[in-house]
Amino acid sequence: MEQEELKKHFGDKIFKQISETADKLGLECYVVGGYVRDIFLNRPSKDIDVVVVGSGIKMAETLGKHLGRGAKVSVFKNFGTAQVKYHDTEVEFVGARKESYSHDSRKPVVEDGTLEDDQNRRDFTINALAVCLNSARFGELVDPFGGVDDLKEKVIRTPLDPDITFSDDPLRMMRCIRFATQLNFFIEDETFAAISRNKERINIISRERIADELNKILLSSRPSIGFVLLDQCGLLELIFPEFAAMQGVETKNGHAHKDNFYHTLEVVDNISAKTDNLWLRWAALLHDIGKPSTKRWEPRIGWTFHNHNFIGERMIPNIFRKMKLPMNEKMKYVQKLVGLHMRPIVLAEDIVTDSAVRRLLFDAGDDIDDLMMLCEADITSKNQARKQKFLDNFRLVRQKLKDLEEKDRIRNFQPPVSGEEIMEVFGLQPCREIGTLKTSIKDAILDGVIPNEYEAAYNFMMEKAAKMGLKPVNN
Ligand code: CTP
Repeated sequence: MEQEELKKHFGDKIFKQISETADKLGLECYVVGGYVRDIFLNRPSKDIDVVVVGSGIKMAETLGKHLGRGAKVSVFKNFGTAQVKYHDTEVEFVGARKESYSHDSRKPVVEDGTLEDDQNRRDFTINALAVCLNSARFGELVDPFGGVDDLKEKVIRTPLDPDITFSDDPLRMMRCIRFATQLNFFIEDETFAAISRNKERINIISRERIADELNKILLSSRPSIGFVLLDQCGLLELIFPEFAAMQGVETKNGHAHKDNFYHTLEVVDNISAKTDNLWLRWAALLHDIGKPSTKRWEPRIGWTFHNHNFIGERMIPNIFRKMKLPMNEKMKYVQKLVGLHMRPIVLAEDIVTDSAVRRLLFDAGDDIDDLMMLCEADITSKNQARKQKFLDNFRLVRQKLKDLEEKDRIRNFQPPVSGEEIMEVFGLQPCREIGTLKTSIKDAILDGVIPNEYEAAYNFMMEKAAKMGLKPVNN
């Protein structure tokens, strides 16, 4: 891209204001990092990072005055940075730095430096591009490491020796794989080899930051790329051992089970083509997580994974806790889907009865559509006829779900006769019989014995109570 062409991307008023302020203060000033990279990639980018050769804070404060009302300046003295918010735009200012790191921390010793020092300390060549904002050089690209060529060739590499770049800040190993996944870029061999060599350094990074990168990988259009790379360099085993344990195929008497790692990644890619819901993607990633610990060889049957869905459901709180993922309703949702993920498949293998579909609807509630999406993504059979049979049966299940939902309103089932009413009618204190009556009414509705209506449920309750020897108090 020529300078004239590049200039057009800096037409916003804010860049002009920064330019004027920088000239007035006599400071060199550059837009750097992701914002410049994303111009070349044609990706929308909001956060603007500006490097000032001198004080970033002074620059931000002067700009704030220049912009007047509507501008909000926040100074972070400890970090030597400042942020200017102006309407929808956020600009981060930092002085050019030279950094050196100690072995056991991500926190560098920082000294003032030149633009070159600052570019040297950045993570990847594609993130080390700078565009000058001073009026005499407005729109001039400074690209000392061939970052633009790497963008064209879709290559990720570090500006310095990768062992230094990754050891300085090991989070960059995750960022490297995340960018390769998001952008569908190739990681240059030496850079990738350095990740393998430095993988143990990931232990100084907080779990929250790792989870943040994992979520970004999972939100990419083909998350499998990232998980395969994480596995190949050995990071996966350190940050997510339960998932790394899914790998491998065992053969007994000529019978092999499928490789659950690659199967899962196919399911994750399948679901990612249908939804951006991060937690549904997590459910896909974890749906078979109980398989390694439930794997058995049973002589007349072959490989089995009995109850892997329930074991998986039970493993999830521990995994979420360790990975610092939210231990709230998001986790419960993932658990629910993992626990239920075999149900539509069993249904689709069998005759699809109304009763089984009503029970599925009852258990899944509002998450039924997500569950069906997960189950469809889970069909990775290479046997086309078998695959088609499943998909046809799922269509039937979906149709039945729709019909029954209209007729019976099971999705957010509320029992038509409440526990209080049962106590009142039969003059009971809290006791087991109330639960028995409630369950039998629920079962009668789900089995289609009675409709989901008050009168039918009341009559059914009276019949059932009579059989149990209970008498209403007012008769
Ligand atoms: N950077 C770095 N090492 C890190 C994090 C950031 O060198 N561990 C540098 C890179 O030059 C990066 C810039 O700081 O481009 C801004 O970082 P950040 O806003 O986190 O990332 P972006 O590259 O803008 O990309 P994204 O917003 O997708 O994370």
